[in-house]
Amino acid sequence: MKVIAIINQKGGVGKTTTAINLGAQFAKEGKRTLAIDLDPQANLTVVLSGGQFEFESTISDVFESAKKHPIRGAIMPAIATGKTIPNLSLCPTDIRLSRVIEQSLTKVHRERILLKQLESIKDDFDVVLLDCPPNLSLTSVNAMMAADLFLIPVDGGSFSLNGLADLLDALEEVKETEDVNFAVFRNEYAKANKLINNFLDEQLNELGDKVLNTTIRRTEAIGQASVSAEPLLTYKSSSTALNDYKSLAKEVIARVNV
Ligand SMILES: Nc1ncnc2c1ncn2[C@@H]1O[C@H](COP(=O)(O)OP(=O)(O)OP(=O)(O)O)[C@@H](O)[C@H]1O
Ligand SMILES: [Mg+2]
Repeated sequence: MKVIAIINQKGGVGKTTTAINLGAQFAKEGKRTLAIDLDPQANLTVVLSGGQFEFESTISDVFESAKKHPIRGAIMPAIATGKTIPNLSLCPTDIRLSRVIEQSLTKVHRERILLKQLESIKDDFDVVLLDCPPNLSLTSVNAMMAADLFLIPVDGGSFSLNGLADLLDALEEVKETEDVNFAVFRNEYAKANKLINNFLDEQLNELGDKVLNTTIRRTEAIGQASVSAEPLLTYKSSSTALNDYKSLAKEVIARVNV
């Protein structure tokens, strides 16, 4: 089982959209995939549960007391248009997550709660996607401890990649190595934005082969699918953006060996 954290402390760059659609792509390719929502905004939860808001158990319960609520009890099949999505599972979140995380500040090994829980399900899944919140809170640190690969979306609004340098510093610190396995890719790519594209390409060039060849194009159907609470794959199976996710999945798989 390989764990991929989709992370960027900058908001709205496409973390959740990537978790949904990359998850759907992995599942389609037959990989037993689990998507875990680590953001109390619960966008991933709403989409992959087909629009539900209440759950018997969520990742908040797991962080509150993993002993009482092991992660296995919070995992459910992902649902789109009333049907389960083969090979795709969801661990939902809820709004209590921020409070619960604050309370775990007094716990020993509080950065390893998720890592430990994932060990208990390592034979059940091939790949786990962590949809991180837009901050570097203890939740994100839990994701960092657990992840084999950090997948970092960057959008066209990123006029400065200063935030990326901070993120990489944080990853190096948590992983206690300068050799962090991370991969950056452009999301919401629009060919016409020449100025932004040239600027970003120049900055990203410095990261060498840490930058993926795949870009996810800005596509109206991607947003529409999320609004109708389903992955693009079920919402519009003819969308050319699905090729972008296919290509992203291929590059990601090559970097984590699943
Ligand atoms: N390639 C794309 N084409 C069109 N719209 C996109 C694309 N990627 C993301 N979006 C839209 O951009 C918005 C932000 O995306 P998303 O919620 O995935 O970002 P995020 O990084 O998870 O945000 P947050 O930091 O708040 O969790 C959403 O409305 C989403 O539908
Ligand atoms: Mg999000």
